[in-house]
Amino acid sequence: MVKKVSKIEVPSWDYSPSLESTSHIVLKEKYDLYIDGRWVKPHSGKYFATVNPADEQKLADIAYGNALDVDKAVKAARKAYNEVWSKMPGSERAKYIYRIARLMQERAREFAVIETLDSGKTIRESRDIDVPLACNHFFYYAGWADKLEYAFPNRKIQSLGVAGQIIPWNFPLLMAAWKIAPALATGNTIVLKPAETTSLTALLLAEIIDQSGLPPGVVNIVTGYGDTGAAIVNHADVDKIAFTGSTGVGKLIQKALAGTSKKVTLELGGKSANIIFDDAPIDQAVEGIVNGIFFNQGHVCCAGSRLFVQENIAERVVEKLKQRMETLYLGNPLDKNTDIGAINSKEQLVTILKYIKIGQKEGAEMYQPVCNIPAKGYYCPPTLFINVAQSSLIAQEEIFGPVLTIQTFRTVDEVIQKANNTPFGLAAGVWTDKGSRIFNLTTKLRAGVIWANTYNKFDPTSPFGGYKESGFGREGGLHGLSAYLK
Ligand code: NAI
Ligand code: MG
Repeated sequence: MVKKVSKIEVPSWDYSPSLESTSHIVLKEKYDLYIDGRWVKPHSGKYFATVNPADEQKLADIAYGNALDVDKAVKAARKAYNEVWSKMPGSERAKYIYRIARLMQERAREFAVIETLDSGKTIRESRDIDVPLACNHFFYYAGWADKLEYAFPNRKIQSLGVAGQIIPWNFPLLMAAWKIAPALATGNTIVLKPAETTSLTALLLAEIIDQSGLPPGVVNIVTGYGDTGAAIVNHADVDKIAFTGSTGVGKLIQKALAGTSKKVTLELGGKSANIIFDDAPIDQAVEGIVNGIFFNQGHVCCAGSRLFVQENIAERVVEKLKQRMETLYLGNPLDKNTDIGAINSKEQLVTILKYIKIGQKEGAEMYQPVCNIPAKGYYCPPTLFINVAQSSLIAQEEIFGPVLTIQTFRTVDEVIQKANNTPFGLAAGVWTDKGSRIFNLTTKLRAGVIWANTYNKFDPTSPFGGYKESGFGREGGLHGLSAYLK
């Protein structure tokens, strides 16, 4: 038995609000499609509203692209590929990509605020993580555009053609950057569809792309819903599909592409294990847990949503974690003090609340700190489930919200077996003082990314992607280039 640590008093104080200004951004009332270097109205004439999930206010109307619009965009992309982009030397392509990166940096504050308004993520996260990382992806791949023969020595470098790219709402601008930058560097042209709840930063990126002088048709942005995405997937003249989103839609796409010559990369869901050994630095590990699942409201495909703690320190870790959770600020994402912003959409909130009910029904012990939930908007308090059975739904299925399950383990073999017992395999975290144990686990955990004594760290030079139902193909680094070459 472990002695219960005495409850350390957590200092509790209120910060004065520190709202990020919105005076430097201008939103249009209505956004059209960006096709062939021009803003064009959708064939259907239809638009849909995008709302701020933090207060449910409408931000703008977004064009609803259909199969005819997608066809127009693919034709523009094909023409730009044949006539300009595939013929341009890498050193010239690099200049455009570099220019886009610089323009993005100049307008970083605008990007950060619009991302926060449209997605509900905290300004701290969009300002410090999403936007700088997105810029860095463009800088990084600009650097490769004229060095592809060094990246892949003794191979003939050949681009694929037109890439169809479909992205989700959890990292709207960053996912656009992950998809667009390597495709441009390798000489492909693009039709990209943002997620229906978060189109605004992709549309601002389109403005920048336009401003950069990129030849018309090289990048086309077609906004819309799932059917718009399906029209890209099913278009006969698309050479490659890159998708990030739910495993369900990933499976649909794989079925639709079976028997075609289209190349595909899928980056799907996760249920990643964060593993704490008894020799780990506990305070850092607790920060790692919080960073892994509660920041960004758990809207992270590689979120550390399953915590495994070695049995002899479990009580201490849980107690410290609860104390830390009591200090988390939930509320207006535009406030620089906020740790936990808004859930991206009402639908997603409903899904998360459904899983919380399931967890309670399954008999796990639940803990939520007292939070002031704003009257308007979609919010979910950080939630802990203790004593969770391996077979329970909340430990098996992706929740995509600030919900953490805790299980304990005694031996290394036991935790490897438990951590791998999931249909997913995107990421994992290991916290221990022993380097040998880290290397042992990195070879045995079936996950695409494994962090040691840290969590959710990203870098454009490092490949990212999953095993099993988390998808296949890698984005980032050299691997990310090869996904866009023959
Ligand atoms: P989703 O997979 O439906 O949406 C992702 C993108 O795919 C969006 O742009 C959407 O418009 C598009 N899409 C939807 N149906 C399509 C189709 N049939 N063909 C082509 N494109 C299509 O994800 P959703 O419904 O927004 O979220 C549901 C769950 O998916 C979440 O609760 C979460 O568990 C998971 N998810 C995982 C993400 C990841 O990064 N791996 C990102 C977003 C969601
Ligand atoms: Mg959906």
